[in-house]
Amino acid sequence: MTGEEKLAQRTAEAEAIVKKYLPPAEGFQKTVLDAMDYSVNAGGKRLRPVMMRESYRMFGGEGEEIEPFMAAIEMIHTSSLIHDDLPCMDNDTLRRGKPTAWVKYGYDMAVLAGDGLMIYAFETAAKALALGADPARTARSMQILAEKTGIYGMIGGQTVDVELTNQPIPEEKLDFIYRLKTGALLEASLMIGAVMAGASEDEVKKMEEVASLVGVAFQIQDDILDVTGSEEELGKPVLSDEKNNKTTYVTLKGLEKAKADEEEISRRAVQLLCSLEGDHEFLEELINMLTKRRK
Ligand code: IPE
Ligand code: IPE
Ligand code: MG
Ligand code: MG
Ligand code: MG
Repeated sequence: MTGEEKLAQRTAEAEAIVKKYLPPAEGFQKTVLDAMDYSVNAGGKRLRPVMMRESYRMFGGEGEEIEPFMAAIEMIHTSSLIHDDLPCMDNDTLRRGKPTAWVKYGYDMAVLAGDGLMIYAFETAAKALALGADPARTARSMQILAEKTGIYGMIGGQTVDVELTNQPIPEEKLDFIYRLKTGALLEASLMIGAVMAGASEDEVKKMEEVASLVGVAFQIQDDILDVTGSEEELGKPVLSDEKNNKTTYVTLKGLEKAKADEEEISRRAVQLLCSLEGDHEFLEELINMLTKRRK
């Protein structure tokens, strides 16, 4: 199988797991459940659950108890996208090829759907215990999930990102934003996969560093695609950053240097990954594919 074929197979597998754990859209709160369902089922690359399972495999994990965490990380990621698109944030109207949650369900329901998904993720992750997961590993994974989602993770990064809109941002602050707003959920993905498989603290720490590098590279590529991509391929508007007068890696360094740095940071991620034991062939392929992604 080629890297692309493996990715397609693992994405389909993650897709089915994410769908399986979505709550049924019924009851008096059906509207918010519909909005949650709409945003998750709109698609997406499912990169975070794919990376989580691969990290789990790499450290010898075989059971299905990783699955609730795979669904949970995609729910949290989707909630971050719903909120990121709101009029008070990036004010975007297209996501994953469809009208954004706030356009479709209203501003109020989009806020609630984001909140609903974010907290349902933890309800979902806790289901690992009923599948026989080790309680200590599950507790540690829940803690990682919370930390990387919250003020020391994605939400912290989004805070600084939003606050510094319309302002020049020095490089070290931009690096902070990227490590948190985008890196943190990727860190959670690789770390939780490792923890649930019983990796050592040292290995978990190294996986966190690998993911942090992948996260920064991923956000630089996202900034590049905001300028060079197409709405059709991306499923979201292009030139969103320019519209919002955002300082990005591209406005700071220019397109060419941004691309060169993105490749260099990805190389460092691969190098660090290769210093670890375990079969990391696909993760390495994946990191290399991400530097060439067009969506
Ligand atoms: C978009 O993430 C937001 C960023 C962190 C840059 P993805 O590019 O993974 O979005 P989906 O999940 O494929 O829609
Ligand atoms: C958002 O960064 C990262 C998140 C935590 C959602 P962007 O605002 O650049 O993401 P896109 O381009 O809208 O997907
Ligand atoms: Mg944003
Ligand atoms: Mg955005
Ligand atoms: Mg972007």
